[in-house]
Amino acid sequence: MNLALLLLSIILALIKADCGEEFKIICYFSSWTGIHPEAKNCTHIVYTFARIEDDNTLTGVWSNPLKEFKNTKDPDLKVLLAVGGQDYAIKRAGEMMSKDESRQKFVISTTKLLRTHEFDGIDLNFEPNEALGPPSSPNQQVIDDKKKLSTLCKELQEEYAEEAGRTGRTRLLLTITVSGIKKQLESRFDLPELAKCADWLNVQTYDYRGSHDKIADHHSPLMHAKNAEDNDKDLNQNSAIKFIVSTGVEPSKLSFGLPAYGKKFRFTSDSRDMGSAATCVGSVPYIELCRNIASGWQRIFLDDRKVPIMMKGDEVIGYDDLQSMELKINYAKEQRLGGVVIYPVNFDDSSGQSCSQGKFPIVSLVKQLTSNYTVSCLPPTTQPLNTTVAPRNRTKNITPKWKQSRPDYFNPGIGLHPKVHRRLFISACMNSVAKKKET
Ligand SMILES: *[C@@H]1O[C@H](CO)[C@@H](O)[C@H](O)[C@H]1NC(C)=O
Ligand SMILES: *[C@@H]1O[C@H](CO)[C@@H](O)[C@H](O)[C@H]1NC(C)=O
Ligand SMILES: *[C@@H]1O[C@H](CO)[C@@H](O)[C@H](O)[C@H]1NC(C)=O
Ligand SMILES: *[C@@H]1O[C@H](CO)[C@@H](O)[C@H](O)[C@H]1NC(C)=O
Repeated sequence: MNLALLLLSIILALIKADCGEEFKIICYFSSWTGIHPEAKNCTHIVYTFARIEDDNTLTGVWSNPLKEFKNTKDPDLKVLLAVGGQDYAIKRAGEMMSKDESRQKFVISTTKLLRTHEFDGIDLNFEPNEALGPPSSPNQQVIDDKKKLSTLCKELQEEYAEEAGRTGRTRLLLTITVSGIKKQLESRFDLPELAKCADWLNVQTYDYRGSHDKIADHHSPLMHAKNAEDNDKDLNQNSAIKFIVSTGVEPSKLSFGLPAYGKKFRFTSDSRDMGSAATCVGSVPYIELCRNIASGWQRIFLDDRKVPIMMKGDEVIGYDDLQSMELKINYAKEQRLGGVVIYPVNFDDSSGQSCSQGKFPIVSLVKQLTSNYTVSCLPPTTQPLNTTVAPRNRTKNITPKWKQSRPDYFNPGIGLHPKVHRRLFISACMNSVAKKKET
């Protein structure tokens, strides 16, 4: 091992912030289709999710199409492999991290797997599908786990720097997905430490609401509701970003989650207001949201939270459309963040047929709004965010034609193992069920 090179790489990694760089368009892509997304405007694809075996080595994804994936890889694109993502995998990660020996085995196995399948890096996604509520009190377990994650991060950083120095290859990227809830961020993540060892942090600014809440609310508001109180004031994207930056993390090290789905609630009383008693009944992909708008759902924009909801009968969906996404992307620019994470790109309208907004309207919107933009580390010189609703009437623009035929990959029966389907993404409202069945 060349010690000088190793040290140099580590020092360079430490001082390098992402200033002056291209705005990252990070597209999470779930493995269940087994194909590569044709989302050309993504700068990074994060392929989900790899498993940690009982022997603590990293192996293929659940449906294991790593080989096919590699063969269709675009050389300009950076492709990362995400590990974790489901409750079972998160539990396994906790066990792996708890012993020096098993951590070391994992670290070495990641280099081998990533290089074998020509990935450009790894994303540690040990965040549950559904956001945990605020912890009652940080117990010893939480304190230990927080330290272990920082340790793993540093060990991976050293491994990748060493490997790059030894082989002359481009260093593997390391990113970490962190919670979007202030209380969780405080208790579970040593943010300044993680920002030093990771290339950047993905902030899970969605799934703020789910089955544990028993009320209808938006799962990914940009701002808090005007009448929000106590903890509810922190269940929004702005609070998460402001909190992380207040710990000293350079904003360009953060990527901000943009959900490509809404969360549906069914009211359990006669009251139809947000905050009323309700049951969470599932997640609705962006392409499906377009069809809803065409089939009589009523859209209402929440001016305080900067996001829309749609209502029909006793159901309400809190979601994002191109109008709220534009506000969120502008927010990311105003806050000098390094990029956005589209979660998942599978739910964007790949054919352009469901939403009549062209192919990949979400990815294209991010590209369009950030094409001549570079991330800066200087203090902001621009005006504060103008969160007034954009003047264009986008409801009109996005009204799609109803399509009888659906893209194949959206048909839940096609090409997926029922078990795998349940595990991936958006088990959303079924957290406890998924947990029970995984074991
Ligand atoms: C990429 O984004 C640009 C700008 O929004 C858009 O015009 C173009 O169609 C997009 N390309 C693809 C392949 O999505
Ligand atoms: C980006 O810059 C180029 C060259 O200056 C210009 O032609 C183009 O219109 C700009 N695009 C946007 C979206 O502002
Ligand atoms: C904010 O945007 C709205 C709509 O585009 C505009 O009418 C308003 O003047 C803007 N406010 C500021 C302070 O720029
Ligand atoms: C936007 O357009 C829709 C459909 O044309 C219309 O029903 C709605 O009133 C418009 N909203 C505003 C604020 O102009």
